[in-house]
Amino acid sequence: MGRYEEVFNKSISDPNSFWGEAAEAISWYKKYDRVLDDTNPPFYRWFTGGELNTCYNALDRHVEAGRGDQVAVIWDSPVTGQIQKFTYKEFTEKVARFAGVLKGLGVNKGDTVIIYMSMVPEALIAMLACARLGAVHSVVFGGFAPNELAVRIDDAKPKIIVITSCGIEVKKVIEYKPMLNKAIELASHKPEKCIIFQRPQAKAELIADRDLDWDELMAKATPADCVPVKATDPLYILYTSGTTGLPKGIVRDNGGHAVALRWSMENVYDVKPGDVYWAASDVGWVVGHSYIVYAPLLTGCTTIVYEGKPIGTPDPGAFWRIISQHGVKVLFTAPTAFRAIKREDYQGEYVKKYDLSGFKYLFLAGERLDPDTYFWASGILNRPVIDHWWQTETGWPITANCIGIEQFPVKAGSSTKPVPGYNLHILDSEGKVLAPEQEGLVVAKLPLPPGTLPTLWNAEQRFLQSYMNVFPGYYFTADGGYMDKDGYVFVMGRVDDVINVAGHRLSTGAMEEIIAKHPDVAECAVFGAEDNLKGQLPIGTVVLKAGVNREPADIKKELIQMIREQIGPIACYKDTAIVARLPKTRSGKILRGTMRKIADGQTYTMPATIDDPATLGEIEVALKQIGYAKKT
Ligand code: COA
Ligand code: AMP
Repeated sequence: MGRYEEVFNKSISDPNSFWGEAAEAISWYKKYDRVLDDTNPPFYRWFTGGELNTCYNALDRHVEAGRGDQVAVIWDSPVTGQIQKFTYKEFTEKVARFAGVLKGLGVNKGDTVIIYMSMVPEALIAMLACARLGAVHSVVFGGFAPNELAVRIDDAKPKIIVITSCGIEVKKVIEYKPMLNKAIELASHKPEKCIIFQRPQAKAELIADRDLDWDELMAKATPADCVPVKATDPLYILYTSGTTGLPKGIVRDNGGHAVALRWSMENVYDVKPGDVYWAASDVGWVVGHSYIVYAPLLTGCTTIVYEGKPIGTPDPGAFWRIISQHGVKVLFTAPTAFRAIKREDYQGEYVKKYDLSGFKYLFLAGERLDPDTYFWASGILNRPVIDHWWQTETGWPITANCIGIEQFPVKAGSSTKPVPGYNLHILDSEGKVLAPEQEGLVVAKLPLPPGTLPTLWNAEQRFLQSYMNVFPGYYFTADGGYMDKDGYVFVMGRVDDVINVAGHRLSTGAMEEIIAKHPDVAECAVFGAEDNLKGQLPIGTVVLKAGVNREPADIKKELIQMIREQIGPIACYKDTAIVARLPKTRSGKILRGTMRKIADGQTYTMPATIDDPATLGEIEVALKQIGYAKKT
């Protein structure tokens, strides 16, 4: 039996001793009574009875153990021309001070704080300061529009909101303060105070009695100590797209999260304390939470906070410059970033300019890694390129080539094997377990390992409905795929109305809700069509109300604007096909999947239940007019 098989089997057959051993890497104020608490399925809990503090484990503990002078965080910001480094000691002091600020404003254990910040070290400071107090943070990605922020404010009900005055998108300065003001105006819940970290690129105007200046507060704050919390207490809420306009508030606990992430660093990524680890993502996404902030710091690594893009800041050599300059051992990013680099530097000329001798592995996730990009990246880098699959819900990888345990040969298109703790199966729509090579729905037999979502914030029924009741006894991933006879998993894409645009998870249902509100629109459907750079792009198909004879180009422009204003520019909504009718089944269900295949130029079978087959031909013509439906 190989090492992976041994480790994997133990994780499934004896989760108590497996995760009990892993938990020894974490410092506990009070040891847990049970490792796996399975008394109330499907609500499995980990390390019940235990008490710890995640911030203590990520910072103070390393200072006490002699790592105080090691660099904890490097901020590399080509968009502002700055690089800053903070040792563990310096970062701990800043976090303790900001925790003092929050405490002074009445933030206590269990209170919620929303963080809406660009990629600056202060975003990490704010997150860790919440963890220090046992407060629950909810980070909202800066590319989301005020409406999305407002929805999260109403659900999370934050006492305090912390923002940067602006974000910098290559050369564009995007002011966050007007978006915050608008969001608070739209939301029913009003935060008590807002803290503004003023960046020199855009100074925000403060509203008296509500807005406070970060620097002024920090100057007079008293540092606050770590507050012990229960292992099962929430550390954060991270909203992610579901199939409707209402995002799902994924809850992360403290104990299971710390244990799983710490374990993953050595076993999945082969990263040890002291190594430099870089996740080129954004703190607004789950990858940013887990692998920019928590996992590297829980492990005593140096983490990099990058405020830039893979290209254009200033060139497609940006990633290689950072790897060589800061001695990065592992880079983790999304395939779309590599497609962008591939497009600008196919021959890999920029790679040759830098010393990458310390760089060992490239990990990719967030969307399917297409074989072309895989082969190109492995060719120019000449080191392992590892696809791994995960979701906001799980917080850490579900399948991977666990290089710290045993390295397997890569099969392009597969994210390799289930990570220990994830007992995966492929089911058909009736819940029958499928044989190897047969494509179906990917599920994980319960219990899920530690670190994965225990529930949804304020939405227990939705948690059960979306994940646990679809196939009782299993977690439903909403991804389709298959396992081959060697146990490799091939994840083929979502089976619901969620799409992945440049590694960003978006809901087509949410876009449809917005488009349907346009006064000229009678009916619409949005689906994700293939895109060479961003993986997928949303396409709208729209039927206009009878009698509307306005210029189609004007309506299309208005739809783009509505999506930008209500979801944000990251939705990348640009294309609408105006059609006379939508293809539907006889029971009235819109055939989005068939339209997607037509848009991608794939062959499709005529659905047996289609109401009028001619509608598919009409759709093909309309999609061709906007540049899709070309046969490949
Ligand atoms: N704040 C405000 N606006 C933002 C933003 C942020 N944090 N991030 C992106 N946007 C805006 C962009 O400015 C752009 O606006 P525009 O339409 O006005 O030009 C829009 O959202 C789309 O951005 P993006 O998808 O990033 O496209 P791009 O063309 O600027 O860059 C890539 C393309 C591939 C380089 C870029 O998407 C990328 O680096 N992707 C990696 C994604 C990633 O790391 N995902 C995390 C998962 S691991
Ligand atoms: P998010 O919650 O934003 O991390 O998005 C999760 C979704 O992204 C998954 O459900 C998958 O559809 C997709 N995804 C993430 N990583 C991969 C991968 N390595 N291969 C295929 N799809 C992926």
